[in-house]
This record gives sequence, C-alpha cells and structure tokens, in this order.
Amino acid sequence: MNKSTFVKKTTMFLNTLDFVKKPVVFDELDSTNLTAKALAKAGAEEGTVVIARTQSHGRGRFDRIWQSPLGGIYLSLVLRPSVPIQQASLLSFMTALVVAKTVRSYGPQAMIKWPNDVRVKGRKIAGILLESEGDGSKVDYVVVGVGINLSIDLKNLSSALQGKSTSLLNELPCPVDYYDFLKTFFRTFEHFYTVFQGQRYEEILTEWKAWSDTLGKRVKVKTMTGTLQGTAYDVDHSGFLLLRTEKGDTKKILSGDCLYFDELDHT
Ligand code: BTN
Repeated sequence: MNKSTFVKKTTMFLNTLDFVKKPVVFDELDSTNLTAKALAKAGAEEGTVVIARTQSHGRGRFDRIWQSPLGGIYLSLVLRPSVPIQQASLLSFMTALVVAKTVRSYGPQAMIKWPNDVRVKGRKIAGILLESEGDGSKVDYVVVGVGINLSIDLKNLSSALQGKSTSLLNELPCPVDYYDFLKTFFRTFEHFYTVFQGQRYEEILTEWKAWSDTLGKRVKVKTMTGTLQGTAYDVDHSGFLLLRTEKGDTKKILSGDCLYFDELDHT
C-alpha cells in the first residue's frame, strides 16, 4: 500500500466506527501521542483518534523509545471522561485488558504484566502510554497511546528488543488484517469504556486480574525512588500494586517497571 492509499483507506475505515468521532491519519509521524496531546490541548473532542503507519519518535513509558516499524498499529485516542482525576489511571488497565482480549480473539494467549504490558509467552506484543491533564478533581483530557506489534517483522526491531518482543505475525500461521484487528479493538474498547464511564471500576479490575500473570509472582519493581522486591499479592482499587516484601512489610506501588524473578537471568 502506498502512502496516500493508507491515509485515504484508514480515514474511510475509521469513519465507519461509532466510537471514532474524528480520525486524524498520517503515513509517518513523530509520535501519535504528541499530536493527540496537542489536539486535546486545542480542544479536540472525545473520540478523536490519531493513527500513523509508522512513527519516527514513538515514545514508551519512562521516556523510552517505542520502535515503530511498518506493520504495527500506532494510535492515540483522546478521551474526556467525566470522572475524578485519580480514576483516570485505571484507563491504562482497561486498555491493556482490551488489547489482550483483542489479541486473544485471534488465538495467541495474551496475558498482562502489571501495569499494562501485553505479552504472549513472556514476550511483549503491545504497550500502552497514558498521558492526562486535569485539575485535582476533574480530568481535562486523557490521551491513550497504544502500540501493537501486529504484522511487524521482528528483524526490524533492535537486537536488544528482538528476544523480548513478539508480533501477531510471529505467533500465527497467517497475518491478521490491520482493519479487522482495529475493528475488534474499537468494539471491545467501546464496551469497556461504557463500563468505566458507569464507574464500575471493580468489574474492570476483576477482569484485569483474571488476565494478568503478575499476582502471586515474586517480582522486582524499579520505581522512581528505588527498587523493591517481594511477592505481588494484589492490585488495589486505584491500580496500585501491593507487594509483600521478604521482611513481611506491605508496599504500595503506583508506578514502576515490573520484572518477574522467574524470568530474570540469575547467572
Ligand atoms: C510502553 O512503554 O510499553 C508504552 C508504549 C506505547 C507506544 C504507543 S505507539 C502509539 C503511541 N504514540 C507514542 O509515541 N507512544 C504510544
């Protein structure tokens, strides 16, 4: 597909989806999250979707680079949920659940690693970057950035990432159609967003827990202030990870990089 065909075809397709109010499609962009944030600050309505065929400066959590070769899905959604700001972070749990369910509907046994990495057999297949603004009590906007390794050739990722990543193409005998995947994703997103707007947060967290392989595991979590280790035993109503340390203390972690002991190289 050439450049302008992608833009035209994707715009037409997104216009058929109820959830998408305004599609903004690019062949190549620095980062869909950057553009979505600029649009949100300028007043873009809920349901604005920025999507690109590739990104030159895709961003991940902790300011990492999100490598964005051809064949992946790179999109950012503008949301304006009418909920208190402290609930907004649950949207990243919700989105991980939506992506995991979408991936699994094509076969691969997707699981979620706290807070929102979607993985298949321990290899990352999708990542979510939530960025929001608001004033203490009310959300102004939330940008939900989603990167999915749909049909990427793993050889187009850096060698450091190749061993830790997978794609649907790598997991299945036949490629999954880009638009078919998007349709399933948005349909599932719309369903869970209605649950979220109805403040039925427990429903989302209960499902998230069923789809996550983090709870019960011995983990090492790198946070802004240091590294904590222990057994992950629960996630509270705001998405904090509850850890029981070897000394028996309980730690509540808002954000961090979670590593599983059984996947660490102890040599
Ligand atoms: C992570 O670190 O796991 C989150 C990765 C999020 C990547 C997506 S790709 C679309 C959107 N635009 C970006 O620059 N980042 C997100």
